[in-house]
Amino acid sequence: MTDTIHYDFVVVSNRLPVDRVVDPDGTARWQRSPGGLVTALEPVMRASRGAWVGWAGQPDLELAPFVSDDATLVPVPLSPIEIERYYEGFSNDTLWPLYHDVIAPPSFHREWWESYVEVNQRFADASARVAAPGATVWVQDYQLQLVPRMLREQRPDLTIGFFNHIPFPPFGLYAQLPWRKQVIEGLLGADVIGFQRVADAGNFSRAVRRLFGYATRTPEIHVPDGLGGHRSVIAKAFPISIDVESFEEIARRPEVQERARQIRDDLGNPSTIMLGVDRLDYTKGIRHRLKAFGELLRDGTLSVGDAVLVQVASPSRERVAAYMQLRDEIELTVGRLNGTYATISHSAVAYLHHGYPREEMVALYLAADVMLVTALRDGMNLVAKEYVACRTDEDGVLVLSEFAGAADELKNALLVNPHDIDGLKEAMVAAVRMPHRERTTRMRALRRRVRDNDVARWSSTFLDTLRHANHHSGAR
Ligand code: F6P
Repeated sequence: MTDTIHYDFVVVSNRLPVDRVVDPDGTARWQRSPGGLVTALEPVMRASRGAWVGWAGQPDLELAPFVSDDATLVPVPLSPIEIERYYEGFSNDTLWPLYHDVIAPPSFHREWWESYVEVNQRFADASARVAAPGATVWVQDYQLQLVPRMLREQRPDLTIGFFNHIPFPPFGLYAQLPWRKQVIEGLLGADVIGFQRVADAGNFSRAVRRLFGYATRTPEIHVPDGLGGHRSVIAKAFPISIDVESFEEIARRPEVQERARQIRDDLGNPSTIMLGVDRLDYTKGIRHRLKAFGELLRDGTLSVGDAVLVQVASPSRERVAAYMQLRDEIELTVGRLNGTYATISHSAVAYLHHGYPREEMVALYLAADVMLVTALRDGMNLVAKEYVACRTDEDGVLVLSEFAGAADELKNALLVNPHDIDGLKEAMVAAVRMPHRERTTRMRALRRRVRDNDVARWSSTFLDTLRHANHHSGAR
């Protein structure tokens, strides 16, 4: 591997920022990957010209590194059985439900764990190969929790950061994981472990104390180095954000504003457009939202023609049973709502099972009077921040679940407990009826907050902490 190029900054995530997709006619193309992680990291990578190590979204793809948008992408292959066990299995049917308050029951299978270990080792090896001496490697998310330790074992010269994009569960739930010690040992290989919320960092430190008895002095964890001393690991909250300016810029484009007007027209110019935008995931509270909206129609508080709910549910993890079942339930509910309440000219729910380009999403945000983010548990929820960033007109109402990380910052939203259907209905009605002056006051405060902590600030705060932490541990 003498011709390998080495990089001073390496990001490692399960997915690359682009997925390779093959169209029905056999042509292959690259498509932006789903989810908030890519939204957040893309601008960071563009600014740093580093390498990004990740999977290209298809089985058995052995591809050489290539350059895309100023970053070098280093594909890591996964076999069909690894996709089944490491990605769909351990990542998304064990860790995902366990870390999201066991909203769905997590499955524990030893062969899934074995595959998780093997694939994490492959990501660690690929990262070690492209990292220059003394480089900074930033590992992302729950799919790769073992990578920090695996990397440190091979390359003690590296500075290693880890960021968890999803919640970290309370110990009472985390303790269910048969491999709970190995996962924490994996994470403690990092110099800095970042979480979305203060509560997540607290849950992690508590788990370390309960399982290992290591001393903690928030935000530091003292990890014995085997030589009678210790390494300090920082575990701290760094709430993630978005590239606010780029959303504002799109929102100001005349053609996007025109598209927003056209969307309103196409929906029959109702007085209120409510909007939900989610990956189709059981953590997002889509069923709760539909239930509340359906009851408002049933009670006569809202009426079709006057109000419509647009629900974008982008396809996600479609081979995992819990996701298939959720899709069936949601589509049955939407069908029932429309069957009962729609007229020839007006739908109750406009349901769209697609992903859309960013410009179309921004037009939808501009068209929406009320944005519904009713997650039952969510690391951050960048959709809430995107909506706020796009509302340069200082209008629109955000209804936000207190169980989304964004609620820690976006206190001027209408905060709801989505399990409380009556409370959710009240908040939806309050949003529909909110006077213009209050909408503006709230949106102005929300916008200030989102602009103050944009994604550039998130990454620079994390990377500064990492630089500082490593400098200190190096000095010992
Ligand atoms: O942050 C949660 C997350 O799992 C990211 O890691 C991922 O990019 C996104 O959601 C989409 O999920 P998936 O890669 O499983 O489609």
